[in-house]
Amino acid sequence: MHLGLDNRVAFVAGASSGLGRATARALLLEGCRVAICSRSSERIQCAAMDLAREAGVPDDRILPLVCDVSQESMVRAALERTAQHFGQLNILITNAGGPPTGTVEDFSADDWRSALELNLVSTINLTRAALPHLRRAACGDNPLARILMVTSMSAKQPVPGLYLSNVSRAGVQGFAKSLSEEVGVEGITVNTILPGYTRTDRLTHLSEALAERKGLSEDDIEAGWADQAALKRVGREEEFAAAAVFLVSEPAAFITGVALPVDGGAIKGLL
Ligand SMILES: NC(=O)c1ccc[n+]([C@@H]2O[C@H](COP(=O)([O-])OP(=O)(O)OC[C@H]3O[C@@H](n4cnc5c(N)ncnc54)[C@H](OP(=O)(O)O)[C@@H]3O)[C@@H](O)[C@H]2O)c1
Repeated sequence: MHLGLDNRVAFVAGASSGLGRATARALLLEGCRVAICSRSSERIQCAAMDLAREAGVPDDRILPLVCDVSQESMVRAALERTAQHFGQLNILITNAGGPPTGTVEDFSADDWRSALELNLVSTINLTRAALPHLRRAACGDNPLARILMVTSMSAKQPVPGLYLSNVSRAGVQGFAKSLSEEVGVEGITVNTILPGYTRTDRLTHLSEALAERKGLSEDDIEAGWADQAALKRVGREEEFAAAAVFLVSEPAAFITGVALPVDGGAIKGLL
């Protein structure tokens, strides 16, 4: 299938590792120019060098940026820099790390605020900063303007012990659906993608934390996760990335306002 992504410009947040990094690599392989960001200058520079090598593309196809997505001023600057550097912006992929696990009494008001800033407010601010550029990309001879928000399967089926994630992801789903209604008339699509358990640094940290809390081994925790999926395994980053790339591609032009789980069948609801 021709994905129509050659020379398009994408901004992928939270891309020094994990799902963001894998998505940036898949976009580079499809011919995109890609800006990637994370909080750490060292990690994002390293990721950019590795990604260029892995995708077999010149360094100038990738722009590494230091940006903490929970800081509005950094978000604005990063999006401006991307559009200025590459001359346009076609695709925004919002993403960041995940919040800590715990029971309802483990979290202070500040913990709640930080989690909402990390996963909900960041998504809204990234979108607000990207919209003027995406509106331009939606016009003209070869239009393509896409927003894809990384949330979690916890948006459809809350995960025990992941209160902070369960709540903030639901907020992102509400934002995405509202936005898809507003900007659809302009030709901008807005979708969310809901990873299930997928092998990344985040999953390793989660299994360490849960193993300690429950007095089990990390292998037991991971086996439990695999067992929840219809496919009886955890996912691979590249499987997530393939779905993400399709949702921002040209052939996905009539898909908007959807929440796509990439979870191996872990969510048990009908819809
Ligand atoms: N993997 C799974 O099984 C799974 C399942 C469901 C949902 N999710 C969600 O999907 C998202 C990505 O997960 P992942 O597994 O890829 O996590 P990961 O391996 O921990 O990667 C997170 C990425 O986000 C960056 N990041 C963290 N905080 C940031 C911030 N404030 N500003 C900018 N960048 C930031 C990190 O880079 P720096 O540390 O360099 O800043 C890193 O590049 C998370 O929200 C996670 O909760 C993951």
